[in-house]
Amino acid sequence: MAGIYIHIPFCNKRCTYCDFYTEVSPQSIPSLVKSIIKELELRKNYLPIEPINTIYFGGGTPSILKYEQFLIIFETIYSLFEVAKNAEITFEANPDDLTEVYLESLSSLPFNRISIGIQSFDDEDLKRINRRHTGNQAIEAVHIAQRFGFSNISIDLIYGLPFQTIEAWNNLLDTAFQLGVQHISSYGLTYEEGTELWKQRENNEITIVDDETMNQMYLLLIEKMNQNGFEKYEISNFSLQNFRSRHNTSYWKQEPYIGVGPSAHSYNLSSRQWNISSISEYICAINNNTTYFEFEKLTENDLYNDFVMVSLRTSDGLDLQMLEENFGTELKLYCLKNIKMFIESKKVYCFDNKLRLSADGIQISNLILTQIMKV
Ligand SMILES: C[S@@+](CC[C@H](N)C(=O)[O-])C[C@H]1O[C@@H](n2cnc3c(N)ncnc32)[C@H](O)[C@@H]1O
Ligand code: SF4
Repeated sequence: MAGIYIHIPFCNKRCTYCDFYTEVSPQSIPSLVKSIIKELELRKNYLPIEPINTIYFGGGTPSILKYEQFLIIFETIYSLFEVAKNAEITFEANPDDLTEVYLESLSSLPFNRISIGIQSFDDEDLKRINRRHTGNQAIEAVHIAQRFGFSNISIDLIYGLPFQTIEAWNNLLDTAFQLGVQHISSYGLTYEEGTELWKQRENNEITIVDDETMNQMYLLLIEKMNQNGFEKYEISNFSLQNFRSRHNTSYWKQEPYIGVGPSAHSYNLSSRQWNISSISEYICAINNNTTYFEFEKLTENDLYNDFVMVSLRTSDGLDLQMLEENFGTELKLYCLKNIKMFIESKKVYCFDNKLRLSADGIQISNLILTQIMKV
């Protein structure tokens, strides 16, 4: 099974914490859509296998697109690729775009999953991080999506926002569980170099949440997810039964995908490509038939590193038998030798021939991964 990711790199305004490649330049949307269509045609033979099991419009802000723009992209995908009948088809939306009029306009398109970037329900938090919506608008956006028949809704939340207390995070989670969504992605705030938030921290303009409180917030998140019937199937991803994101899961299982649009990545089991991170340069390169991506042929070590990195983050864990079958006994022994101290200190469990991170292990997952990766 394979996937298609379409990156829509536009935002109406920038959130202070975000360093994803996006621009505030809506005048380029029509030309970008044309280039995306052309890239889909160019990538027709990139995937080693079909059918397409998942299609994901991510951003940036896909909900900036109009019906006609989505339609022409779907027509292109369906004419070029075999799309599975039960494919999971998601778009990311900002809450203030999710009006009844907008969802009505999209109702004949094949979307069956929606991912809403909420981040917080607290208006002070939202203002501080420069979001375009209020807490009430976020709640209303979920209700509107439900009224329009979406029964597979995901929301994004961030914990550890400046000034946030454990109590506030606890209340925020209670609000989230009342919404009746099927999937929640929850990320600890990271201070990305060069962002507005990074500068605010440098200038001591904000009160940051310390590491100990961040850990407590994460433990609270896991506990409340559990109480509310959500399975933690990856460090930051939680779902009700049968509602894991199939698209993200396919990345973690190293299934092939094409990513179209500026800064999108593609992977076909033997190589990785990543597109130019500039809307204007991407459009220009596609129009002039010049190279619009960088390319890397994957070595055995790269494939091994990808495998251990993604599988250890999931609750299914790192399957030692699969590791040996795919990469040989030598690399399996290398992995076991380097992870031994973490098993002894109970940061990692070894059970059923699988390695899984414990709650303590999750807090130092980057350290564990650097020990077992091969450079
Ligand atoms: C790139 S955004 C796209 C979604 C959409 N544009 C939105 O903001 O609603 C994907 C998610 O990544 C998370 N995210 C982005 N930057 C982050 C950061 N610095 N720390 C924690 N989470 C972050 C947010 O939860 C966000 O919803
Ligand atoms: S978080 Fe989403 S809306 Fe905010 S700047 Fe990043 S991509 Fe744009």
